[in-house]
Amino acid sequence: MLQTVQKIMSSKKGVLALDWSPSTIEIQFKNVGITSTPQLNRVYRQMLVTTPELNEFISGIILHDETVNQQLDSGEGFVEYLGGLGIVSGVRADDGKSKYGDTQQDMTEGLDSLDDRLKKYAEVGIKFTKWRAAFKISDYYPSKEFLKESIDRLVTFAKISHKHGLVPFVEPDVEMKGDHTTTRCSEVTAQVLKLLFDALKEAGVDLENVILKTNMVLPGTESGVEAASLEVANATLYALRKSVPENVGGIVFLSGGQSYEDSVHHLDKIEDLARNDPWEISFSYARALQKDALEVWSGKEENIDEAQKVLIERIKKVVKARKGEL
Ligand code: G3H
Repeated sequence: MLQTVQKIMSSKKGVLALDWSPSTIEIQFKNVGITSTPQLNRVYRQMLVTTPELNEFISGIILHDETVNQQLDSGEGFVEYLGGLGIVSGVRADDGKSKYGDTQQDMTEGLDSLDDRLKKYAEVGIKFTKWRAAFKISDYYPSKEFLKESIDRLVTFAKISHKHGLVPFVEPDVEMKGDHTTTRCSEVTAQVLKLLFDALKEAGVDLENVILKTNMVLPGTESGVEAASLEVANATLYALRKSVPENVGGIVFLSGGQSYEDSVHHLDKIEDLARNDPWEISFSYARALQKDALEVWSGKEENIDEAQKVLIERIKKVVKARKGEL
């Protein structure tokens, strides 16, 4: 597992998240006027993973269950193909979400079948896993009971991943949606991270073999405020420094619905200010990296070259930011 962590956190690369659920990919495809089917999803993801030079900048890819057993046109499986490029394959291990009691919070599901599924994933060459727990911010949320249950599930997920030799990406995602301030996002993020790491330590989980995938600290999308990168970086590092142990395997940020430009500039500033912090910090973006490539492709074979060019350009720039070199 340590080797997997080191490979994923390689200082010149980052992680590409290709793990949209069938319902999310349906929405994303609809936005560009196409209809998602397992076959078209496969063609889309094949286009992304066959982008020239990808393995020079991408160390790991998070797949969706749908892709794990699919093949490229050549007949080669996705996991096998990525392995040949030296890219580590991971998988989204949670199985969606359900409404939590009589609240507007969504609880992540999938623990029941997790042990079996992870055993099978490990057998086909998957090396890491991801479990996203979303936290809504409002005057009442996240509620105490929700926090406890959600964090317990993340810890159980991490333990089962380790049982199968898989590196867990524990992903508490304090969402951007809402009218909250940056300060409130920072407080909630620090609280969630502190509870998470206390619980992981208490459960005896080896943190060196865990990667934290988390949100940047941002003002709510309906707050009417746009934060500067310096403010985002300071608020994010403040929350991390209060709550994340030194020995965690690494930290990767999600893009969370930020524009591509914001996600890149904020990351660059974070890296810049975190030079003396103990962690390796990188990115694991889905929307920020895929949005423009998907739009250019729009389901047409003749657009593949252009879409791949857009993707690799976006990736190269975010890798520069990951090195604090923008
Ligand atoms: O779970 C979230 C994804 O892996 C990252 O997605 O970059 O669009 O927030 P995002």
